[in-house]
Amino acid sequence: MSDLSATYMGLKLANPVILGSSGLTSSAEGVRKAFDAGAGAVVLKSLFEEQLRKELGSVDAGPWSHPEAEAFLSRMGMNEGADEYLKLIDEAKKDGRGPVIASVNCVGEAFWMDFAGRVESAGADALELNLGQVPDNPNEDAAAVESRLERLVRDVRSSVRIPVAVKLGYGYTALGHLIKRLAKAGAQGAVLFNRFYKLDVDLDAMSLSSGPARSGPESYHDSLRWIALLDGRVGAELCASGGVHDGATVLKLVAAGAHAVQVCSAAYSKGYGVISSLLDDIRSWMSSRGIASLDELRGRLARRNSEHPELYGRLQYLEALHTR
Ligand SMILES: Cc1cc2nc3c(=O)[nH]c(=O)nc-3n(C[C@H](O)[C@H](O)[C@H](O)COP(=O)(O)O)c2cc1C
Repeated sequence: MSDLSATYMGLKLANPVILGSSGLTSSAEGVRKAFDAGAGAVVLKSLFEEQLRKELGSVDAGPWSHPEAEAFLSRMGMNEGADEYLKLIDEAKKDGRGPVIASVNCVGEAFWMDFAGRVESAGADALELNLGQVPDNPNEDAAAVESRLERLVRDVRSSVRIPVAVKLGYGYTALGHLIKRLAKAGAQGAVLFNRFYKLDVDLDAMSLSSGPARSGPESYHDSLRWIALLDGRVGAELCASGGVHDGATVLKLVAAGAHAVQVCSAAYSKGYGVISSLLDDIRSWMSSRGIASLDELRGRLARRNSEHPELYGRLQYLEALHTR
């Protein structure tokens, strides 16, 4: 019998496949379905700062207003604030089926310390900080952006004992250094990467429109590269997110060094049951190779274990350049 167990941020998982934060994890029913399908853990839908502001009676979301969150709130017709979210954590934990990771979409700094403590009291096993903002302010340099994120992690860390992960987009300079800094500030995990709302243009209407919400099976390569580059070098355990649609991709990401792997679009496309298919694929590959435990595979192809580290940062298709 293959041993798929994994450890991520000190959480013991039956397997490394986590259902990622999304509408699929916004109810206790969704969480139950995920565990029924065999998920190793679940990340709840993010509570957006705007929801908390609403509860706290703030009218003006100020400079941190988050268009994606506003769109989400109106689309889903959701008004529930912190209390509803804490109730969701409590219900999701009731069955005791596996680790439940809460998620908050942090933008400003002030809101999170108190709420993080309440998330912990409600029974969440860990907290994922969805640092989902695009660093687009031409007047804020990289050092200022990073310092802001670091303060945020440090503040949250100081108010909880449960493990904290940061979920990042890929639009940062010196990503390795940033994660190392966030790990020093107290993040035990880093999720690479979030998938932001895809912006598009409707030429007929000459207006902005939305691109595809879901990833395809070719979308995992950026996550794979960065996990292979950074595993064991930044002080945080890495969790893959983006483009996981089959068991082979989970195995590749684990070989690159991922401690856990999040699935979202595949579950939207094929239903929660896709998790059990992924696990079947993983087990059958492991037994065909005589690999008894997933730990034997983890990090085998990470840069830190390679004799050719230059291959991991290679950006050009050298072979193609030579042959054309
Ligand atoms: C419809 C939808 C809603 C999502 N909502 C959230 C969210 O609330 N918080 C979050 O951190 N990520 C959210 N995500 C991002 C996913 O958790 C995941 O990181 C991303 O989709 C990449 O994984 P995938 O390629 O398996 O979809 C959402 C993704 C989708 C498609």
